[in-house]
Parts: sequence; C-alpha cells; structure tokens
Amino acid sequence: MATLAASQINFTHQPHPSPVPVDVRDAALADPGFGKLFSDHMVSIEWSEDAGWHNAQVGPLTAIPLHPAASVLHYAQEIFEGLKAYRLQDGTMALFRPHANAARFNASARRLAMPELPEDVFVEACRQLVAADRDWFPTVPGGSLYLRPFMFADEAFLGVRPAKSYKFLVIASPAGNYFKSGAPAVSLWVSDYTRAAPGGTGAAKCGGNYAASLVPTAEAFSRGHDQVLFLDAAEHKWVEELGGMNMFFVFDDGSILTPALTGTILPGITRESLIALARDEGLTVREDRYSIDQWRADAATGRLVEAFACGTAAVVTPVGRVTDPHQGEFVIGSGGPGQTTGKLKDRLVAIQRGAAPDPHGWVMRLD
Ligand code: PLP
Ligand code: COI
Repeated sequence: MATLAASQINFTHQPHPSPVPVDVRDAALADPGFGKLFSDHMVSIEWSEDAGWHNAQVGPLTAIPLHPAASVLHYAQEIFEGLKAYRLQDGTMALFRPHANAARFNASARRLAMPELPEDVFVEACRQLVAADRDWFPTVPGGSLYLRPFMFADEAFLGVRPAKSYKFLVIASPAGNYFKSGAPAVSLWVSDYTRAAPGGTGAAKCGGNYAASLVPTAEAFSRGHDQVLFLDAAEHKWVEELGGMNMFFVFDDGSILTPALTGTILPGITRESLIALARDEGLTVREDRYSIDQWRADAATGRLVEAFACGTAAVVTPVGRVTDPHQGEFVIGSGGPGQTTGKLKDRLVAIQRGAAPDPHGWVMRLD
C-alpha cells in the first residue's frame, strides 16, 4: 500500500449541504486572524492493516466520531503538518513546497510508528480541499488559506503498542497575521522547561511536542511575551527553537546563522527555504550551535545586528527582545525589524505569491 499513487486513489465528493452563509463568510475573510475559522469542507482518508489507505473523501467539515478508547486519546499517536495555499498575482491558486511537507509528514509518521501516506496522495488531498474551498481565501492583504493535514490513531485498544487503524484529515483555515499584536518585532521568553531531548520526538511534528510546550507558552504570554524560546535539554545552553518557529541570527559581517538540525529541532521548510535564498543572495549561512550567553554578549557588542523567527504560520518575524528569567532582558539591534530580515522575507513572499521568478521550483500551481 505504501506505493499507492494519487492516480490510484479516488476521492468521493460530497458538497456541504449548508455551507456558511456568504455574507458571514465574507465578513470573516476580511479579518481572519489565525486558526479561528474553518472552511466548509475537509478531506478524510482511512487506513487499516487489511485495506491500507482507502475511503478518500472530500466532504462537509464535521465533528469526528471517536471511540473513547481510541489510541490517540490515551497515547497521543498524532502527527500534523501546516502549509499554505496562496493566490498568485495572476489569480492562480498555488501551494508552496507541498512535497516537502509530505516528506516531513512521513518522517513524523515513522517516528510515531504510524503508516506513511504516499507523498502524491498527501499533495492531492491538499489540492482537492483548496479546489473545494477556494472561496474561503481571505481578502485581507497578505492573507492565505492555511492547510492543516493530520493523522491520528483511532483504534479502540488500551494496550500500549502502535495502533492498527488511523485517519488522515485535511482541514483549511483562512489566515491573516499569526501574531495578534501586529507589532513590528516580537519579544521572546527563554524557558527553563525543555521541549525535546536527544532521542525524543523533537524533530517530528507530533501533537505531543506541542502539549509539552503549552505551560512554557502560557508562561511567556502571562509575562507579556509573544513566544517561548527553548534551549537544549542536556546543557540548557544552546538555542534550539521557538514553540512554533525556527530561529535565525544576522551578524555585522552580513553572515547568518541558524541552529543546526540536531534531532531535537523541527526541520522547518521555511528555514530550509531561507537558507537557500540567503545563499542565492551571496550571504554566508552557517548551521551551527549558538548559546544564549553568546547571543546576549553579541547583542551587547553589536556583533549581532538582527534576529528573526520563521515558520509557515509566522512567515518571517523579527525578534526585538529576549528575556531570560535569570539574567533579565536584552535587546537586539534597534529592537525593531532589520534590513536583512526584511529582504529575505520579501524574497520569500514574492516567490510564494508569484511576484518573482521561482528559481528553485517551489511553487506548485493548482489550477
Ligand atoms: N518549529 C516548530 C516547533 C514549528 O511548529 C514550526 C511550524 O511548523 C516550525 C519550526 C517551522 O516550520 P515550517 O517552516 O515548516 O512551517
Ligand atoms: C506552522 O507554522 O504551520 C505551525 O505549525 C506553527 C504553529 C501554528 C503550530
């Protein structure tokens, strides 16, 4: 079944019998925020040991019946992805590097002992949902349709072992700005908690990682910060990543550094894309360790001129200040957006929106 191709899987289509009224939808699309609204349809595909992947549907967005013993509710066997559909300048709908999300989804599946979904089925599922719900594209400038593919174990069984049945779903949510504040630069809280340890699931996009990040995230919010920053588990010294974003640093010699993928960090697709774009610009990019103490020292001397966070939801977001619970706050550069950050963001967004050539072949046109 792992070799199943998209052409071998037939999606049945059932339009929503009572979609959200057009006036309600249009009002929502003018100011969608992030993750609050959901389009009319969803894709679902089932997996069982006997039948493999089967029963692919595009149908109404609806609640999912689950047995109370379903494995996901007890042992958190769940993985997800996040990617955006964009409307290109010429009106065509497009996805950005969907095969990279599909490949990462399968890497997560392997780590969580779940079945892999053929990459082209993953991409086809996203394409089908965008086709069904293209009217849900936000009207706010910079808007996109955020897609959330995910898979969970739905076998009713309480023994601890990989489940024998799973559901894959894709839902869509119109998206504007990820950060509510709309501030030009965000503020980070350095957590004493650990997100991921060597040998754990840090490199997988599984719900459990986010569950572990919620107390530190709530702590960051309650202290007035926008995101939590995690350090490594062993030494509590090396910068890893944020609750939902990767980190980049820009130095006064023009070079860039991002924490290396050590197995405890999510291999971000935005991260990988920005590394390529920075190298295209002739910038030196290092993937290496960077300690919180060095960061503070470099910010003080001015050797570090910019820092930014990146991810599908947050795109590229300047980091203005960092607060360490033990040593207090430090500010990066002017505390606002920097030039290199702005340039890389503009390059990425221009490609994603079809406003610039796509030398790496990242944009997949859907129409
Ligand atoms: N790190 C974490 C923990 C994330 O949740 C995300 C978001 O998906 C990222 C990094 C950035 O990954 P990507 O650029 O693929 O969205
Ligand atoms: C994304 O950027 O897609 C994420 O998953 C980050 C966050 C919404 C969890």
